[in-house]
Amino acid sequence: MTDSVTTGTLRLPPRVHAGFGARAQLLHTLPDGTQRVLAVIDPFLTSSPLWIELQTSLEAHGVRVHVYSDIRPELPVDSLTAAADTAAALGVQAIIAAGGGSALDAAKLVALLVTHGGPLSRFYGENLVPGPVLPVIALPTTAGTGSEVTPVAVVSDPRRHMKVGISSPHLIPAAALVDPELTLAAPASVTAFAGVDALVHAVESFTAADLRSPWNDELPVFTGRNTLTSALALEAAARIHAWLPIAVREPANRRAREEMAIGSLQAGIAFGPTGTHLSHALQYPIGAATGTPHGLGTGLLLPYIVDALRRDPATAERIGVLGDAMGVGADPDAVITALSGLNDAIGVPSSLRALGIEREHLPQIAELALESRRLVGIAPVPAGEELLREILDSAFAGTLALRRTA
Ligand SMILES: NC(=O)c1ccc[n+]([C@@H]2O[C@H](COP(=O)([O-])OP(=O)(O)OC[C@H]3O[C@@H](n4cnc5c(N)ncnc54)[C@H](O)[C@@H]3O)[C@@H](O)[C@H]2O)c1
Ligand SMILES: [Fe+2]
Repeated sequence: MTDSVTTGTLRLPPRVHAGFGARAQLLHTLPDGTQRVLAVIDPFLTSSPLWIELQTSLEAHGVRVHVYSDIRPELPVDSLTAAADTAAALGVQAIIAAGGGSALDAAKLVALLVTHGGPLSRFYGENLVPGPVLPVIALPTTAGTGSEVTPVAVVSDPRRHMKVGISSPHLIPAAALVDPELTLAAPASVTAFAGVDALVHAVESFTAADLRSPWNDELPVFTGRNTLTSALALEAAARIHAWLPIAVREPANRRAREEMAIGSLQAGIAFGPTGTHLSHALQYPIGAATGTPHGLGTGLLLPYIVDALRRDPATAERIGVLGDAMGVGADPDAVITALSGLNDAIGVPSSLRALGIEREHLPQIAELALESRRLVGIAPVPAGEELLREILDSAFAGTLALRRTA
């Protein structure tokens, strides 16, 4: 594919290893001379033979491992302070992050707190982390958020309406070990919601606005569409579209787990520099109002967003390229049908009502989404209240324009 944009930015961990068995690189990815680490691990891993084996192997090589696994849903900001205090008191030289996106984000934030001190609210937003943080070695157990390669960590702060992001190139882990073996135990709903979020990352990265920041300024964390990530986003979308329903239906299918691990990693590499847009802007207030998982919301919204964006001819063309990559053809209607069909196949509901949203919530959701100016600004068309209300109205009614006209 020839891209209309011919500039690009890549920001990545210096080391990325992916495939069955990649976790065995853990010892070799720690900084030279590491003697003490904090392992921020997902609660489900604490008694898993996979983790115990890794910890035993590190200790056999003289690395002392202190485990922290109090990863609370939604990652309340105050819960991270204790972990950071422990890490600082122990003088750890690196942080191992193993788990779903919540555990990986927790580890990134602990690394930030240990290095630069709190409160975390000092860093809410973009490019506010003043320098490098303690190295984080990330092992995702979902496929997935892509957090193992991205510059973002998301946290909930009781003083705010919604989850807040800290975005900085300094939060990109020092190494990512993407081993599908770690995802085999993920239950169907976790596989479905994390997997569809990865598809949203790929689609939103591929359809991101062409922003072209001046090269002589400090670059924004999210630089919009770029030619270096487009091909990865397309490949990620193709893999996830093909393999996510199989991974949900057949959790022990190793090929499906491997394809999903690679697809979500590619999507993370793609959206890390470009950013995501409207599904994410709208999910934050929806997630806050309903307590529903991130991927459930972004996945539900995606067909409605693509449906609204295809009215823009340049974006419709891009959606066609995406459809070709996914093997459903270049007609945007076919792409939207494929995205909503995938949701049906993996148990993502088709209407916001199923998440407990009432019609009278919609204006406030649109208003709060517009506060995420960074995300809204990455949409390929100017997105104001009217467009967001239209998307929300369709997603509430559960009706896509193409179905209305069929
Ligand atoms: N930093 C980023 O770039 C980024 C991107 C997207 C989302 N996020 C954040 O990531 C979070 C969502 O992450 P997630 O979808 O990975 O879910 P999660 O980390 O919240 O985990 C969901 C549940 O699945 C369990 N789990 C995880 N892996 C498992 C496995 N292999 N086997 C059994 N149980 C397992 C966890 O213990 C938890 O109970 C959200 O908080 C979202 O805001 C971050
Ligand atoms: Fe996401």
